[in-house]
Amino acid sequence: MGKDFKRTLVTTALPYANGPVHIGHLAGVYVPADIYTRYLRLRGEDVVMIGGSDEHGVPITIKAQNEGVTPQDIVDRYHAIIKDSMAQLGISFDIYSRTTSAMHHRTASDFFKALYDKGEFIEKTSMQYYDEEADQWLADRYIVGTCPHCGNERAYGDQCEACGTSLNATDLINPHSAITGNVPVLKETKHWYMPLDKWEPRLREWILEQHKEWKPNVYGQCKSWLDGGLQPRAVTRDLNWGIPVPIEGAEGKVLYVWFDAPIGYISNTKELRPDDWELYWKSPDTRIIHFIGKDNIVFHCLIFPAMLMAEGSYQLPENVPANEFLNLEGEKISTSRNWAVWLHEYLQDFPGKQDVLRYVLTANAPETKDNDFTWRDFQARNNNELVAILGNFVNRAIVLTHKYFDGIVPPAHELTDYDRDTLAEFQGVRDTLSQNIETFHFREALKDAMNLARIGNKYLADTEPWKLAKTDMARVETILNVALQICANLAIAFEPFLPFSAEKLRGMLNMEQVQWDKLGHTDILATGGKLEQPVLLFEKIDDATIDAQLQRLERIKQENIMRNFTPKAVAEPCSYDDFAKLDIRVGTVKECQKVKKADKLLQFTIDDGMKGRTIVSGIAKWYEPEELIGKQVCFIANFPPKRLKGVESQGMILSAEDADGRLVVIGPTGPVKPGVKVS
Ligand code: 2FM
Ligand code: ZN
Repeated sequence: MGKDFKRTLVTTALPYANGPVHIGHLAGVYVPADIYTRYLRLRGEDVVMIGGSDEHGVPITIKAQNEGVTPQDIVDRYHAIIKDSMAQLGISFDIYSRTTSAMHHRTASDFFKALYDKGEFIEKTSMQYYDEEADQWLADRYIVGTCPHCGNERAYGDQCEACGTSLNATDLINPHSAITGNVPVLKETKHWYMPLDKWEPRLREWILEQHKEWKPNVYGQCKSWLDGGLQPRAVTRDLNWGIPVPIEGAEGKVLYVWFDAPIGYISNTKELRPDDWELYWKSPDTRIIHFIGKDNIVFHCLIFPAMLMAEGSYQLPENVPANEFLNLEGEKISTSRNWAVWLHEYLQDFPGKQDVLRYVLTANAPETKDNDFTWRDFQARNNNELVAILGNFVNRAIVLTHKYFDGIVPPAHELTDYDRDTLAEFQGVRDTLSQNIETFHFREALKDAMNLARIGNKYLADTEPWKLAKTDMARVETILNVALQICANLAIAFEPFLPFSAEKLRGMLNMEQVQWDKLGHTDILATGGKLEQPVLLFEKIDDATIDAQLQRLERIKQENIMRNFTPKAVAEPCSYDDFAKLDIRVGTVKECQKVKKADKLLQFTIDDGMKGRTIVSGIAKWYEPEELIGKQVCFIANFPPKRLKGVESQGMILSAEDADGRLVVIGPTGPVKPGVKVS
């Protein structure tokens, strides 16, 4: 594996304990990390896989406040769900701990103190928002306002989720407190900063010169940060949830969550290996690999390494194979909008099907670009690949051995050229599979493994042993010996990817141990060995099961749409006479088309019960013109005509607007004759 390392430390991004984990986390981080770790274990290498919950940070305190419970209650709840569901999926952490542990508090606190004592921080005072009513500083997400880049009215003090820009709270237009809704005041506060600019030359050299082999998405993101110039970053916050800043004069301040979280990898290694943890962090013959999602790149490739450089005794990561994002049915996964497939729910809805999810998430992993998870693809991959190819081949080989040889592995006699060609196809697989896993190309590696099953399926289909049973039993023995050796290879090749099925398969074949080095061998199963009764590795998933999942998502979509309408305060009183001045009528849409050179506008021809009229409306972003033809709408009939992009609009169509500016046209609930007045 390239440079000679004696051991490997695999770290996996610590998920925030403010919600359960979903398929995006799994595809991005935990499934690939688990494949990599299981592979190294099969090779007999010294490897530890570190995980844990990230239990600090503002979103956790906000959630606690919203629910009227303590932050500790929140993290206790989600830590348990996350830990348990990942274990059920077979994510084989050597330790899954948490950042509220005493070990972590001590480790992170000591780390900060060590940098402080070495004079590695800059102290700065700055103006920050404070909510006087709540008597609380407003860190990051406690402050909401309008994004100066895209106009999103619900941008947070650290980031706008609509356009992805990182922000400072003072960049927000019209800022207000997420706690009370009040306009906050600016007050002076002192914080400690990592001078990232100081480390920039070393970071440049280390990544841009010495790690050109990193994935292009990771390398590219680092380069663009470095080219933009690194600025000092505050590593403390005014907050009462987190690790207290361990110096005098810092009362009421805690370490920034992104300062303590990556140190969690160190704390958890210490907890796992109290006696020799330093070997995994400080010895140059340890390979450190961070598995993360793309939103964590800057922290793992620039900020954490700068912290490690400043401390001085730690090794830097050898690679950071960050993945892109997984979407769900074409839309960004979102915890707050409940737009996700949650692991703990999947495990309930699909008992015993852990490997199906692992398979689909690997086959469709967002390794080089964002990818989409769809339930139809999930069903197709299960039915057409796992059931039809892998499961079918294994089942046929084992059933036939029971049928003809009472489940005893038959001997191989003279091999034909075709047998030899089939077996030869195996020889190269171990190397390509290994190479793909070692370079983090897990999708390709899975294809390599699946290809072995395809070879097996084809071999049985071509040799048709069931037709030879009456005439040439010796040939049937040879064919089934070859087929069973292929099964044994599959049990090894799939172990990192589909550990539950590989274990079942090993059970059926009575294979006690698996070693990666045996992959490609054609004598893994000894002649005369006894097989167990076959069990099905995979089952078809029917349409009704998939439809139920799609209906659940549709329900969530509807709920989100409803939730997004935020009623405004009732307007000043008005008289009936004021209202009666507005001539609101019902009309039927006869024609509807886009207005040229105006992406927002639709032009309607309305049957208004009179001579008909044209109305132009700014709803093109939300409707296709055809959707509205034939529908009845309400419109204001007595506004003076107005020219919009060269078209005269003779009125205004009524609609309701949600918090994102999405418009829904309003019409009658039953048929109404065009032109009738609304009163
Ligand atoms: O993005 C996240 O979910 C963070 N909780 C990841 C932290 S990774 C590490 F630094 F602990
Ligand atoms: Zn924005």
